[in-house]
Amino acid sequence: MKLAQYANEHGDPAGRPYFSINGRSAISGQQWAKLRATLTCDVGITNVWREPQVGGSERIQGTRNGMKYKFSSLHGSQKPLKLIDLTIRASTDKGDVVWEPFGGLCPGAVVSYHLGRVYRAAEIIPEFYAAAVERLAKS
Ligand SMILES: C[S@@+](CC[C@H](N)C(=O)[O-])C[C@H]1O[C@@H](n2cnc3c(N)ncnc32)[C@H](O)[C@@H]1O
Repeated sequence: MKLAQYANEHGDPAGRPYFSINGRSAISGQQWAKLRATLTCDVGITNVWREPQVGGSERIQGTRNGMKYKFSSLHGSQKPLKLIDLTIRASTDKGDVVWEPFGGLCPGAVVSYHLGRVYRAAEIIPEFYAAAVERLAKS
């Protein structure tokens, strides 16, 4: 805030306001704090996160392209809920928006629901989207 204040007092008037979100006024301390990325990790969590491949009842099965054959693994890259839980807890607060642009089976939807986050996703394959909706309904 001191830097913003200094720049706005002493910087070239033609460039003011410096450190601004709306282009009309300088950013406030509260706005600045809100922009900061959240990173909170439990004690003992390092910067290498490992989880085994999804298996058992978490592994979603299903069919694709109207085939009768049921795949034992509907999505080839289903991520473990535990890993997504850690990611969302570490990087967001309650009420924040979680955006999962390549949703797949949308693990972020399940975790966000349980953690009180607002969730948005995109998934282009109808069968994955349908499975994600069903999974969320059951969670
Ligand atoms: C690596 S997978 C995501 C897997 C997901 N994290 C999970 O655990 O199920 C990426 C997904 O992005 C989807 N995708 C690819 N291009 C897309 C696009 N243009 N718009 C929306 N989804 C897309 C794919 O169909 C695929 O399901």
